[in-house]
Amino acid sequence: MFDRIEHYAGDPILGLVSQFVADENPNKVNLGIGVYYDEDGKMPVLECVKTAEERIADPIKPRPYLPMQGLAGHRKGCQDLLFGADAAVLQEERVATIATIGGSGALKVGAEFINQWFPDAECYVSDPTWGNHIAIFEGSNITVKKYPYYDKATNSVRFDDMIACLKGMNKNDVVLLHPCCHNPTGMDLTQAQWDEVLDVIKAGELIPFMDIAYQGFGEDMDTDAYAIRKAVDMGLPLFVSNSFSKNLSLYGERVGGLSVVCPTKEEAERVFGQLTFTVRRIYSSPPSHGGHVVDIVMNDDALHEQWVGEVYAMRDRIKAMRSKLQAVLEEKVPNQNFDYLTRQNGMFSFTGLTPEQVERLRAEYGIYMVSNSRMCVAGLNSDNIDYIANAMAAVLQD
Ligand code: LMR
Repeated sequence: MFDRIEHYAGDPILGLVSQFVADENPNKVNLGIGVYYDEDGKMPVLECVKTAEERIADPIKPRPYLPMQGLAGHRKGCQDLLFGADAAVLQEERVATIATIGGSGALKVGAEFINQWFPDAECYVSDPTWGNHIAIFEGSNITVKKYPYYDKATNSVRFDDMIACLKGMNKNDVVLLHPCCHNPTGMDLTQAQWDEVLDVIKAGELIPFMDIAYQGFGEDMDTDAYAIRKAVDMGLPLFVSNSFSKNLSLYGERVGGLSVVCPTKEEAERVFGQLTFTVRRIYSSPPSHGGHVVDIVMNDDALHEQWVGEVYAMRDRIKAMRSKLQAVLEEKVPNQNFDYLTRQNGMFSFTGLTPEQVERLRAEYGIYMVSNSRMCVAGLNSDNIDYIANAMAAVLQD
């Protein structure tokens, strides 16, 4: 009966975690998965989250089902962060927002909605993109194609090729975009480039779907949302999936949101109803604990301010690690250019290492990166950076 079931080869990112855990190398370093570790190599519990947890736990309360769309305060927290608390589009009630099971849950609900209501739409993702983008949209029976994005030879964006590709897309095709901290390359568009991309999207009547999982890790909370807010100002319809996994360090709580910006309040109400129904058909309602943490931190002024400071401290430490790694590598491998490390943003750097070099780092040094050469810079610290730089220099020079 099950003999025709195909083997699952495992996930190229999550699969590395179990490999890493089983590795007995005492010097092992996990630079695979996109997780922030602090200077001591530990995943932090943010102070603002600790305070929220204390409020939730005192007294311990019953756990009713949440509404299908999640807590109102969680949804408002997503909206204020993405669009700006005073945004006209929010006052006009033109945004349908639901709380979701992480960013992946937001993408899944969005993909199901698109497949139901725009069945002819194809989805274009950047080449390369986060692998799960492709898996989620294909899993919702949507044809996924790629638009040119990254040039490995020059470590820069293939902007003209990207624009040419956008111009060839059909009305209502979905364009999946990373507003900041592109995953996996770390290479973002400039604001002038965003303006041009959005002009082409508007002219072609395409549907932008912006996936923002690293807000606050690029420049700052508002600048990182530039593309989202510009699209809204231009009157575009827009899907936004957001995640609190990284910027609240709440990976396992699975907290995120899906927002759909609509031309009118009436359309937003109908879209909201259909998103809610989509949730009911897949998982009924989101889990409550993480939703309460988001609600408390996002809607308490003092905690919110503390949170922003904590995110910026993580951002700054990553930037410092980028500069340090660049300096050490330039010294050790003088004939190569490593300035890509500080030109890229967010948690990831596309190192350009070959799959064989990545495998050597794992096998000989216990250093784990994704086979496409993506390194999670947030796993570097003062204790391991020389070890990593030496290992990279060794595999690059052999
Ligand atoms: C990553 O890109 O490493 C993270 O978003 C974790 C994941 O689910 O892949």
